[in-house]
Amino acid sequence: MKVEIQNHVEHLPALNGLTLSNLLTRSNCMATPKAPTICDGKVDDADAKLNEIDRELSISVITEADTEAVLDLLKRFFFKDEPLNTYVQLGECKELEKYCTKSLGEHSSYKATNSRGEIVGVILNGTIMKPQPSDEPPAKLADNCAHPKFKKIMALMDYVDEQFDIFELYPDIDRFLDCKIISVDTNYRGMGIAGMLTDRTLDYATRNGIKLIHVLCSSHFSARVMEKMDFSEVYRLPYADYLVNGEQVFDPEKPHVAVRILTKRLDQ
Ligand SMILES: CC(C)(COP(=O)(O)OP(=O)(O)OC[C@H]1O[C@@H](n2cnc3c(N)ncnc32)[C@H](O)[C@@H]1OP(=O)(O)O)[C@@H](O)C(=O)NCCC(=O)NCCS
Repeated sequence: MKVEIQNHVEHLPALNGLTLSNLLTRSNCMATPKAPTICDGKVDDADAKLNEIDRELSISVITEADTEAVLDLLKRFFFKDEPLNTYVQLGECKELEKYCTKSLGEHSSYKATNSRGEIVGVILNGTIMKPQPSDEPPAKLADNCAHPKFKKIMALMDYVDEQFDIFELYPDIDRFLDCKIISVDTNYRGMGIAGMLTDRTLDYATRNGIKLIHVLCSSHFSARVMEKMDFSEVYRLPYADYLVNGEQVFDPEKPHVAVRILTKRLDQ
């Protein structure tokens, strides 16, 4: 079993020659200092599962040439199984396609590819700069959204933006890397692939002098990924508390009970 680390491999000496099992151990152990026993069972399970599926995965940077393949994965999984998308039964959504692909040119996003060259997981990131006092206030995401179901989700994002200002929490930071989308093929879940993709994201940020990573987690599972990577929760909005005209808007299936923002500083 092997994992090839492609692109910027020179910046990842610790990963060279590691097997996926090593990487899973590394990701999960690094991430679960509070629960090492989970780590032990997890790696065995992951090994067994990989035996059945595909033992050769590689992690590499996403370029614009991957756009269609990335969208193909997202349409088969994320558009259907991200908890809010599931709840509203999103369906086709050009607006979400645009949101997912607009930062690919930054080359800060990563994919996990199997031996057949199929993308089985992605993390899509984008750099956000601190607004300057002279800047126009940003437009509300929901205002220009024609897709009624996606508009509901964008309105929630606008609400979170009003409630939580990351630059107020970290006044010394002039930009951060926003992890916008994480999606793993259902056949490859529970094996730590999202953690491996996050690990590469942390490496990208370090190499580019970005001191803060920010992830808005609508899913309990993505929040678990980040907790295992030692991210800290800085904001939480239970779905039961997000009301519009006195009515709860989202009630996804458990264990997805809240939108949470988790961050990790790389300079402390
Ligand atoms: C969130 C997601 C990317 C995690 O990817 P992953 O590679 O499976 O991540 P991990 O292997 O670290 O597992 C994370 C958690 O998923 C859950 N999980 C484990 N096995 C699973 C499986 N077979 N199927 C589904 N979830 C599983 C567990 O709660 C696990 O946490 P734990 O290790 O504390 O038990 C993936 O679940 C996914 O694509 N979900 C749908 C899209 C989505 O919601 N994206 C995030 C929106 S913010």
